[in-house]
Amino acid sequence: DKVVLAYSGGLDTTAIIPWLKENYGYEVICCCVDCGQGEELDGLEERARYCGASKLYIEDITDSFAEDYIIPCVMADAVYENKYLLGTSMARPGIAKKLVEIARKEDAVAICHGATGKGNDQIRFELSIKALAPDIEIIAPWRDDKWTLESRQDEIDYCKAHGIDLPFDVDESYSRDRNLWHISHEGLELEDPSLEPDYKHLLVLSKTPQEAPDEAEEVTMTFEAGVPTSVNGRQMKAADIIRELNRLGGKHGIGIIDIVENRVVGMKSRGVYETPGGTILMEAHRQLEELCIDRATMEEKKNIGNKLAQVVYEGKWFTPLSEALRAFVLSTQTYVTGQVKFRLYKGNIIKAGTTSPYSLYSESLASFTTGDQYDHHDAQGFITLFGLPLKVRAQMLEHVEKK
Ligand code: ARG
Ligand code: SIN
Repeated sequence: DKVVLAYSGGLDTTAIIPWLKENYGYEVICCCVDCGQGEELDGLEERARYCGASKLYIEDITDSFAEDYIIPCVMADAVYENKYLLGTSMARPGIAKKLVEIARKEDAVAICHGATGKGNDQIRFELSIKALAPDIEIIAPWRDDKWTLESRQDEIDYCKAHGIDLPFDVDESYSRDRNLWHISHEGLELEDPSLEPDYKHLLVLSKTPQEAPDEAEEVTMTFEAGVPTSVNGRQMKAADIIRELNRLGGKHGIGIIDIVENRVVGMKSRGVYETPGGTILMEAHRQLEELCIDRATMEEKKNIGNKLAQVVYEGKWFTPLSEALRAFVLSTQTYVTGQVKFRLYKGNIIKAGTTSPYSLYSESLASFTTGDQYDHHDAQGFITLFGLPLKVRAQMLEHVEKK
């Protein structure tokens, strides 16, 4: 029988190869799913084979990650606990989908992932796999009683004992997860929320705002029906737009957040995220929506977006609720078309003008002169009715107090 292992080439997933063979007797098919993590994948195949895998798939899903997962979340303005732009959360369902696809192709009976038993990722991988392939067995070594490796040194020793001698680093670094959208950092000094992050060692995609250029940089973007289509006049596909915004945002110290978040499994965890391009993209999209979406729809959309953020964080991408929330959001985007201009300056995104052929903004309505469409007398009657419940309640209170 075969098992498909979500493989990165790092120490954790490398040690899992001999462990799976020893404890389950399965033939191990490795699968490295590329979501734009920007890592060198050359040589990974030899490495996987050297460690005992019979095959390695390298699957690049970066474009699908951008178009099918990121863009819907941008449209929804999905942000978890007001800060986290869901970079890791959004990537898991696409990875799981690919693992299932390979498992089917190989006729494998199981899928194995290296997420720990304390985090969110195990939930996201497993809920996605269950939704797509209810019959497939899931193996999570870190939760398995047969897994006895507790440190990097244990894993290195285990690998050596199984004939794998690779130059792995014993020192713990941050626990990181990188893809097209973001990089997350957890562990080390971050585990103590009273400590300031050691930004010099930590940052990978960005400069701190303090180190960013003293000159602001102007950026123009266009959107069509909620989808970003160009940056500074260059038409690009979504993934390339995010890459370009990452470059710009990283340079100007945009989108570095330090958060204590609530994990699904109950504990709080402290992390730092760099989401330079994502932060710009979401802000630019909001800037355009201000012009193109009416008040009542926006109000509901805000709730739906928060709900979607929670659903995505909890790993429930492939659920009827997630589909319904995304369908609502998509229907609000029809007229979110236009151009936004802003300046990047030391961690800030400063608006510099917005236009849209579908703008709901009317200068004649908003200006102080009266016109055909707005009569001040209407406002008087409107306020009388709008304020009626307030007035009735105030009268009731007066009456009660007199008694
Ligand atoms: N806490 C974040 C989340 O739950 C980031 C998780 C990072 N994952 C990782 N394997 N390092 O989405
Ligand atoms: C892990 O536990 O594997 C990483 C952190 C998380 O999933 O929240």
